Amino acid sequence: MFKVQGKTAFITGAASGIGLGIAKACAKHGMKVVVTDVRRKAVDEALVWFKDNGYEAYGIALDVTDREGYAAAADEAEKIFGGIHLLVNNAGVEAPMGKVWENSYNDFDFMVNVNIRGVLNGVKTILPRILAHGEGGQVVTTCSQSGMYVVPGAALYCMCKAGLIGLMETLQADLRGTNVGASAFCPGPIKGNLSETSREVRPAELTDAASAPAAPAAPPPPPPPAAGDDTRGNFTMPDFSSFILPAEAAGEYVVRGAERQDLYIFTHTDFKASMVEKGDAIVRAYPDQPLKAGFAQAFSFLTQNPVYPEVTTPVGGFE
Ligand SMILES: NC(=O)c1ccc[n+]([C@@H]2O[C@H](COP(=O)([O-])OP(=O)(O)OC[C@H]3O[C@@H](n4cnc5c(N)ncnc54)[C@H](O)[C@@H]3O)[C@@H](O)[C@H]2O)c1
Repeated sequence: MFKVQGKTAFITGAASGIGLGIAKACAKHGMKVVVTDVRRKAVDEALVWFKDNGYEAYGIALDVTDREGYAAAADEAEKIFGGIHLLVNNAGVEAPMGKVWENSYNDFDFMVNVNIRGVLNGVKTILPRILAHGEGGQVVTTCSQSGMYVVPGAALYCMCKAGLIGLMETLQADLRGTNVGASAFCPGPIKGNLSETSREVRPAELTDAASAPAAPAAPPPPPPPAAGDDTRGNFTMPDFSSFILPAEAAGEYVVRGAERQDLYIFTHTDFKASMVEKGDAIVRAYPDQPLKAGFAQAFSFLTQNPVYPEVTTPVGGFE
């Protein structure tokens, strides 16, 4: 267990959507909050809520792809609040939806730079500081349900998020024996602004002049159309709006998961059947052949990972 009360949270991509929801939940649970985002103006706007509600928050403009900037931001946060306990690697971007061979090299670089390298930069910069102060803590990375069960036409996004899940699973194992844990936060549809902010923050040198302005932004989640009045070809889009959780609810899931030091943090139990289907498919795909005596023992470092049996079920959800 990790008690968040009185501790410090450092959240990336925290000026909008899920990151802001996590920041608000952390504040409500008694944390000091470092609100970081690449969009300085949005950070300033986000801070107003904390000030108005009497919460301790401090804003830093941080591009997670900037390693020197990351170290400077961590120094600044520690100067203001002391040690950081909770790192939330939340900043993320999307690229135009489509078949991956039709995505551009610029799409590849933009996605990997922010979604993968940005998270690695966070882990490398902040985790040693959390371990060093010894007061305990948690590293939470906003992955996605779509990293668990992929979405056709969103290969770059799903690849990045699946990679982050692997990173958090390995980290949780590597942190055993310490008072710090790792969580893969895998939200389903949550209210956020990923399409808009991804266009806004995309560096000019990674923007494709020909395709960028008209390119559709990649869900997940799909945009919420008004009930019944949005048609794509012959398909009438259902009304998604009632299933999309507010970002503040996502924040509550993260705070609970961080306190429980859960490996996985999910928001929509509705995906459970899909996960069973995928798990069954993987197990079914192994060749039907006799097991080799002694293999599991000889290769126990490959076949046994204690973090999986340790996973337990949290009770109830947040709306
Ligand atoms: N909204 C959903 O339904 C959903 C579902 C699953 C996962 N996610 C993930 O949740 C995270 C937040 O998404 P959201 O929907 O709240 O979007 P959002 O656009 O509301 O928030 C993303 C924030 O990240 C910031 N950002 C982008 N690039 C950055 C960089 N290089 N450095 C620092 N900050 C940067 C943006 O400025 C923005 O404020 C993303 O990682 C996204 O992939 C979202």
